[in-house]
Amino acid sequence: MAETIADLIENRFGLPATAGRNTPASGTIAGMVARRSHRRFKPDPVSEETLEIVLAAALSSPAKSDLQQASIVIVRDAAQRGAINGLVESMPWIPQAPVFLVFCGDNRRIRRISELRGKPFPNDTLDMFMNAAVDAGIVLQAFITAAESLGLGCCPISLIRNHVERLGELLALPEGVFPVAGLCVGHPEGAGRLSMRLPPSITVHTDRYDSSRFDAELAAYDARRAKAEPTEPGKQRFAERWGVTEAYTWSEDKARQYSVPERHSFGPYVRRQGFALK
Ligand SMILES: Cc1cc2nc3c(=O)[nH]c(=O)nc-3n(C[C@H](O)[C@H](O)[C@H](O)COP(=O)(O)O)c2cc1C
Repeated sequence: MAETIADLIENRFGLPATAGRNTPASGTIAGMVARRSHRRFKPDPVSEETLEIVLAAALSSPAKSDLQQASIVIVRDAAQRGAINGLVESMPWIPQAPVFLVFCGDNRRIRRISELRGKPFPNDTLDMFMNAAVDAGIVLQAFITAAESLGLGCCPISLIRNHVERLGELLALPEGVFPVAGLCVGHPEGAGRLSMRLPPSITVHTDRYDSSRFDAELAAYDARRAKAEPTEPGKQRFAERWGVTEAYTWSEDKARQYSVPERHSFGPYVRRQGFALK
C-alpha cells in the first residue's frame, strides 16, 4: 500500500525514491504517478454532464500561439461506432468502451480565417503540422487527467491511424484536419496494470543531452521491468519470425514491434489532407 508520493514513484520506476517521502499519496500528483491505461470497462454509461465537464477541462489546455488547433469528434452513432470497431478488430476494449472520441489536429480553422480576413498564408510547413499535432496531444492528455480525476479510465488508440483513409471518410475530416488518436473512456472494470517507466537517468538531461549511459541503463531497465512485468511466452511479438526467448524484455518487444513497416500510409494521407510539410 503506497503511503507517500515516494512509494508511488518507486512503484512507477522500480527504483528507490526519496523525493516525496514526506508527502502523502493523495491529490493530483498521486493520481498522475499511479495512473494507467484501462482496457476493461463496466457497461455503466458516462453521463453527458461528466463528458461536458471533462471536455471543458481538456479544452482549457495551453495551445500554440493561442491557435487552438485541436478538434474532438465524439462518436455516438451506433453505426459509426460499428464501422470504426470494424477497422480495429484486434482491440476488444474499443467496442466495450461506453464513450469513444477521436482527437484531431486541426489546421483548417487558421487557413479559413486567413481566407476570411483576406490575408496570405505562407506557412504550409512541417512546423505548422506539428503545432496542430502537439495541440491535439496536449488536449488528449488533459482529457485523460480530468477523466481519471473523476474515477473514469481511458485508453488512447493510435491503431485507428492504420486505416486513416477510411477513418477520415467515416468522420468526414476535411482538408487541414487529421486524426491523432482515438480514446476509449468509461468506468474501469478492475484496477488495470501499472507500466514501469524508463528511469529519469535516461529521459531527463541536465544542461546537455547525454546518452553516454544509455545502453547500460537500458539493460538495467529491461531487467527490472521483465522481473516486475514478465511477458508470457505465448505473448511474445512476432514469435514466428524472431522465436521465443527466455529473456523477453521491453527493448526486445519494441525492436520486434518496429521490425515491420508500420503506418506508411499516414504521411501520404496527411499530404492529401492538404499539408505540404515544407
Ligand atoms: C498516442 C497514443 C496512442 C496509443 N495507442 C494505443 C492503441 O492503439 N491501443 C492500445 O491498446 N493502447 C494504446 N496506447 C496506450 C499505450 O499502450 C500505453 O499508454 C502504454 O503502454 C503505457 O501504459 P500506461 O498508459 O498504462 O502507463 C496509446 C497511447 C498513446 C499516448
